[in-house]
Amino acid sequence: MDKVKFAIVGCGRIGKRHASMVKINDNAELIALVDIDSALENGLKEEFDVPFYTEVGEMLQAHPEVQVVNICTPNYLHAQQSIQALEANKHVVVEKPMALTKTDAERVIHTALQVNKRVFCVMQNRYSPPAQWLKQVVGSNLLGEVYMVNINCFWNRDGGYYQDGNPDYWKGKLEKDGGTLFTQFSHFLDTMFWLFGDIKNIKASFFDFNHQKTTEFEDSGTVQFEFVNGGAGSINYSTAVYDQNMESSISIIGEKGSVKVGGQYMNEIEHCHIQDYEMPELEETLPPNDYGKYKGSAANHQFVIQNVVDTLLSNQTVTTNSLEGLKVVEIIENIYKLK
Ligand SMILES: NC(=O)c1ccc[n+]([C@@H]2O[C@H](COP(=O)([O-])OP(=O)(O)OC[C@H]3O[C@@H](n4cnc5c(N)ncnc54)[C@H](O)[C@@H]3O)[C@@H](O)[C@H]2O)c1
Repeated sequence: MDKVKFAIVGCGRIGKRHASMVKINDNAELIALVDIDSALENGLKEEFDVPFYTEVGEMLQAHPEVQVVNICTPNYLHAQQSIQALEANKHVVVEKPMALTKTDAERVIHTALQVNKRVFCVMQNRYSPPAQWLKQVVGSNLLGEVYMVNINCFWNRDGGYYQDGNPDYWKGKLEKDGGTLFTQFSHFLDTMFWLFGDIKNIKASFFDFNHQKTTEFEDSGTVQFEFVNGGAGSINYSTAVYDQNMESSISIIGEKGSVKVGGQYMNEIEHCHIQDYEMPELEETLPPNDYGKYKGSAANHQFVIQNVVDTLLSNQTVTTNSLEGLKVVEIIENIYKLK
């Protein structure tokens, strides 16, 4: 079987993970790495043994054989670099969030349609066994009418995470990061949209409890809404939790049953009581992305790379497509419009 040829743009925490997951996939080949930080070159060459570039355009010119470009740079660069790769006739894997505005996400989709290339959005939490189970439970209508959905995301992101307000660091800057819902919690909004669809009649309050010195935006919020398909919902979120992450959970109250998936990153079934239903044994969830003190979402990037390979080589479907990526951006934009 042919190998799909990848290049990674942005080789920080998550870019290196993409590179590792490409390396271990038998049907994928890592061709090149790109990062503006030339100090990374020696370490990356030692670890991955492929050419390194500091400029996307230069890499694209040097490697016409590249088929897929993974965009793993700061959030504000996702749309423009996706378009640059698409215009060079490459497929794109774009880290979350797909863009920081719906308009930019639309530009990406428009370009992809014009050049007939795929855009794979990274929402790897969907591959976790509890998420797959929830999709099956909700999709097969086991809960009947859905009355309420409540999401709680309570994490710790303190000064160390934001490099104590380092003015050159992108995280914490409104223009480059976009805000807590984009960078920390978009996975959970994706899960909600994937399960229940779009929302309307949004009300929200925002707070900055202890990030005045490190971020230009809120660290906490309470958001209430209705689902277009019926039912009420809410998201309570915070990065102001003392010392370590506390939970990421979703509680669903339906006509014929109620479930709660919780744990630090929606990795444990905490409650399941559904009419005439016996809870199956689920596979163990993989541990979260580990950034030392800070824990992130599920470390499932191998499934993202496998989905690219399966889609391009065996004509399977994209797990998180660009329209879904756009909808999550739009939902966050609509919530933030209430600031
Ligand atoms: N899916 C997930 O669970 C997950 C987890 C962490 C981060 N992310 C996303 O991945 C992206 C990167 O996050 P991170 O934590 O790795 O950040 P990071 O700061 O560790 O890495 C970003 C890298 O991009 C490089 N860069 C900046 N501008 C560039 C440019 N113009 N061209 C090429 N490289 C450039 C930086 O030098 C840096 O090495 C963010 O969008 C973030 O939201 C996703």
